[in-house]
Amino acid sequence: MTTAATQAPMNISEHTAQAHADKTVGEPLVKNAKMSMRGVNVFYADKQAIYGVDLDIGRNEVIAMIGPSGCGKSTFLRCLNRMNDTIDICRVEGKLMLENQDIYDPSLDVVPLRARVGMVFQKPNPFPKSIYDNVAYGPRIHGLASRRTELDEIVETSLRKAGLWDEVKDRLHGPGTGLSGGQQQRLCIARTIAVSPEVILMDEPCSALDPIATAKIEELIAELSENYTIAIVTHSMQQAARVSHRTAYFHLGKLIEVNDTEKVFTNPDHDLTEAYITGRFG
Ligand SMILES: Nc1ncnc2c1ncn2[C@@H]1O[C@H](COP(=O)(O)OP(=O)(O)OP(=O)(O)O)[C@@H](O)[C@H]1O
Ligand SMILES: [Mg+2]
Repeated sequence: MTTAATQAPMNISEHTAQAHADKTVGEPLVKNAKMSMRGVNVFYADKQAIYGVDLDIGRNEVIAMIGPSGCGKSTFLRCLNRMNDTIDICRVEGKLMLENQDIYDPSLDVVPLRARVGMVFQKPNPFPKSIYDNVAYGPRIHGLASRRTELDEIVETSLRKAGLWDEVKDRLHGPGTGLSGGQQQRLCIARTIAVSPEVILMDEPCSALDPIATAKIEELIAELSENYTIAIVTHSMQQAARVSHRTAYFHLGKLIEVNDTEKVFTNPDHDLTEAYITGRFG
């Protein structure tokens, strides 16, 4: 593969033209998908941010979404649990399915949808409540536990799955915000897991964390993928390579390439993907 050192940088009009000429290359579709998106366009007022994306996310797969800043990764991720609904000027077109459920069915209640498709954000955002109450919050509003002992069990199991139990079991009633950044992010993962989601969306979940905390979250992603489907946006190509099975490369609002992660990072099909992974832009 060519490297950054041996290649002249692409100029902006060159890669703009390429991005807009092509259909997604590689294998954006899979058999027996957990989520299927077709013809997705997203607009902020009259400005288009996502162009005609077709993508499947497989069951129990970890899919990484990468690409230069502003290419639409967060916008696309937020379509998957209708988080864009909270942005007034945002409009989503296309067909987005979670198994047989049309995610954009106007009669669909987004609260249970967001329990099925949970989200972990870039900055850990625990509620100003105790560690226990952060994790118990979702099960309480969704009525998942009828007795206190059941709730205790959900809280413990979720904290264990998030790899945080041993560090917090003696301070469950202390504030969530009193934890370190990496612990807070694992608390947010525990909070997401507590409502038994099927899919977990993560938007740069490690970007505010140090390398040790990052390594813990990456280990956790590998463990969680046994039971959940995970879509993770990351700026770290090393992270994408370490945690994901497939990688989707976005560029200027288009989905350029989707392939097995190893292929994307060693022998990508598209020039733009290669230019990005070799550091020629982004
Ligand atoms: N709330 C918003 N209102 C208007 N435009 C927005 C909004 N959010 C995103 N955009 C625009 O949509 C495009 C895609 O933005 P998005 O945040 O999805 O990119 P990104 O790939 O996640 O970037 P980054 O890597 O910097 O997080 C950009 O042009 C951005 O300016
Ligand atoms: Mg983003």
